[in-house]
Amino acid sequence: MIICVVISSVLFYLCGAVPVQQADWQPNVCGEFLTHINTNTNTTTCYHMDASHKTWNAAEADCIQLGGHLASIHDDVFNTFIFNAAEEMYSFEGVHIGLSDTNPGISGFGWSDGSVLNYSNFGKSMPNINSGHCLYMQIINVQGYAGQRYAGQWYSEECDGFTMGHVCVRPTM
Ligand SMILES: *[C@@H]1O[C@H](CO)[C@@H](O)[C@H](O)[C@H]1NC(C)=O
Ligand SMILES: *[C@@H]1O[C@H](CO)[C@@H](O)[C@H](O)[C@H]1NC(C)=O
Repeated sequence: MIICVVISSVLFYLCGAVPVQQADWQPNVCGEFLTHINTNTNTTTCYHMDASHKTWNAAEADCIQLGGHLASIHDDVFNTFIFNAAEEMYSFEGVHIGLSDTNPGISGFGWSDGSVLNYSNFGKSMPNINSGHCLYMQIINVQGYAGQRYAGQWYSEECDGFTMGHVCVRPTM
């Protein structure tokens, strides 16, 4: 059977013969962003990795420009996925994620995309506002001045401090 996929809004078609048992292809719901499908929860997340070195605040502003926010993370599957993607992209030793206690109208820590904080993977003694009010995901294991930091865990940073890569998410279309 022949399947054609329309890419974005431009008139560009990808056609190919696919095995019949794989015929349930997904429409493009993420626009310019990439698509991650969590097969445990059947949740689709649109994400975008950026390897340029920016502060948390500048990275969040960039994500907003693209119609999203810095990434919220709601389970281990997506946390591990982002970790692997960031490791592959490698930019400094971490990537900014959307967690901070600087969200207007929200007291305490929350995700900049407004979603509920129902999963966390904080490093030891985190979050720690003495280190800053925003968070990043560690990508490589390091022995830092404040102790061991572990890949995949979240650590506090100044929102206008470290420059590193970041990951944005945006709603599906
Ligand atoms: C996953 O979600 C899609 C889109 O909502 C739906 O068509 C599909 O049946 C779902 N699959 C499972 C295994 O729940
Ligand atoms: C956590 O929040 C996200 C975003 O609102 C939601 O999709 C997910 O189902 C929630 N997970 C649990 C375990 O409640």
